[in-house]
Amino acid sequence: MAVSIFFTVLIFGAIFYFAVRYRRRSEQDLPVSVHTGWALEIVWSVIPFGLTMIMFGWGASIFFRESRAPDNAMQIYVVGKQWMWKLQHMEGQREINELHIPTGRPVKLIMTSEDVIHSFYVPDFRTKQDVVPGRYTMTWFEATKPGKYHLFCAEYCGTNHSGMIGWIYAMTPQDYQRWLAGSPSGSLVQDGAKLFEDLACNNCHKPDGSGRGPSLVGVFGSTVKLAGGGTVRADEAYIRESILSPAAKVVEGYQPDMPTFQGLITEENVVQLIEYVKSLGVRPGGPGSQQQGQATPVAGARPSNR
Ligand code: CUA
Repeated sequence: MAVSIFFTVLIFGAIFYFAVRYRRRSEQDLPVSVHTGWALEIVWSVIPFGLTMIMFGWGASIFFRESRAPDNAMQIYVVGKQWMWKLQHMEGQREINELHIPTGRPVKLIMTSEDVIHSFYVPDFRTKQDVVPGRYTMTWFEATKPGKYHLFCAEYCGTNHSGMIGWIYAMTPQDYQRWLAGSPSGSLVQDGAKLFEDLACNNCHKPDGSGRGPSLVGVFGSTVKLAGGGTVRADEAYIRESILSPAAKVVEGYQPDMPTFQGLITEENVVQLIEYVKSLGVRPGGPGSQQQGQATPVAGARPSNR
């Protein structure tokens, strides 16, 4: 603002001053052609260039910081559907139209929709992010003050769009621990492990790689070689796609034998399976490789890294 005001006043002041000072005084008054030195040209080009580059660098660093969740962020899965918000904690707590979070800790939301586009909007946190069917979007925030904050859907999604609202309860870390302890849970990883057996995934995806499908141990966060060339980074979106559209990206050395689970399992189930796959080991430096230490190790799984 200060820089803009300074230059606005300078430029408009100069325009008015010159308009009066060098006005045409008679019919015969013809302007003389003037050639200024190149030094002046360079000075008034280089100074604004320098100023705009400083602003660009400053703005870009804030933008990058804002668009990447810090590594120590706790993770919450969000599923939007007409017309409610379903939220899942890593520890297994499920909430509808309510989200309990601790203050002073970054919270990362991994979000998808069961039907149409919604938008997760918490005005007090300056947070708004579209929630899109068929893919994961991410946003993060850190609550600084305990309290009760409005949650809205900010994308028109049908008849009860205006009723797709809820509350975020930001609590002191102690209160949050008490809340976690007081609500029933089975962790996402445990639910995922059970599902992995119930759906018979384990028949093909054997840990030692001897099955018809690749072993999933250590897959999350790694770079996977695909049949027909190319690679893909094994993040949440890739695991989700491999469950719902297995033929889209087939791992090198395997046949596209896997059936789709589209329509057979819910978005919550997909999230449970993803967390189970994550619990089978994470390559260092991969997405979600940060220490979180909440997941309970499951029988048959390597100790969780997150
Ligand atoms: Cu969901 Cu509007």
